[in-house]
Amino acid sequence: MIIIPGPSSLELGKKIAEFVKAKTVSVAFKRFPDGESYVRFEGEVASEDVIIVQTTSPPQDTNLFQLFLMADTAKDLGARVVVAVVPYLAYSRQDKRFLHGESFSSQTVAKLLEKTGVDQLLTVNVHQQSVLDEFPFPAKSVSAIPLLAQYFQSRGLEGAFALAPDEGAKEYATEAARILNGGYGWRHKERDRYSGAISFRDEKYDVEGKDAVIFDDIISTGGTTADAVKALKTHGAKRVFCACVHPLLIGDAEKKIMSNGAEEIVGTDCVPSSVSKVSVAPLIAKALLRLET
Ligand code: R5P
Repeated sequence: MIIIPGPSSLELGKKIAEFVKAKTVSVAFKRFPDGESYVRFEGEVASEDVIIVQTTSPPQDTNLFQLFLMADTAKDLGARVVVAVVPYLAYSRQDKRFLHGESFSSQTVAKLLEKTGVDQLLTVNVHQQSVLDEFPFPAKSVSAIPLLAQYFQSRGLEGAFALAPDEGAKEYATEAARILNGGYGWRHKERDRYSGAISFRDEKYDVEGKDAVIFDDIISTGGTTADAVKALKTHGAKRVFCACVHPLLIGDAEKKIMSNGAEEIVGTDCVPSSVSKVSVAPLIAKALLRLET
């Protein structure tokens, strides 16, 4: 097995290689003045099981295209199998045609990955499992929520309440609550598909005087998490922490959340950022060692 740490996941790729005790092949990459990407493998891949680690967080299109280039090059140069480890899988939120005439973006990404030689895909907390179910090759998602919950547990937050900021994140709160043992709940979120306007509805949460942690897969603009922080404070929570697998943190997301009274935002290195304090390297390594190629 050879690990190729792609340009968008250099550090994570190297860490994974250490965990699985595999050799790495580095990639020389650059952007041409007109923005086009260039990649060159600085080692041999012929007859190897090649694992390309490349997250597709912003700039998604550049990172995706580099992934296509690397996969196609690996296959062209004789790799036996190409596995794409894509810790954050871009376009997974456009997981169906919500309105007539829209692109079905996650399906397009899957088709392009297949065409460029990817045989298998491994990701972390894909936004919807149905996205992977429709992939034309084996595609699997592993969950980093236990790692995030353990981070808070190790910092004395055993007993903290776990909140999902919407129904889609319910499973994250339940997973976390198994480790934190402080109960869990979720908010109801509705989005108007035309205007994009979002509204929330709360239940009664048992957080009076308690610490609470919000668990989500993605923090993008921070609006969802910031509103959840406010809701927990209104319900009497003592301290509110925020955890997400994919800290995209667009614009002033961090400021928006912290100014609503959060103590800390914790993300993983699926997306390199200032809050990526938890590494998914051991999780991915374990999954890779179990992969049948
Ligand atoms: C939505 O379903 C996701 O799980 C996140 O809650 C959402 O992407 C967060 O977006 P934002 O940070 O822009 O509110």
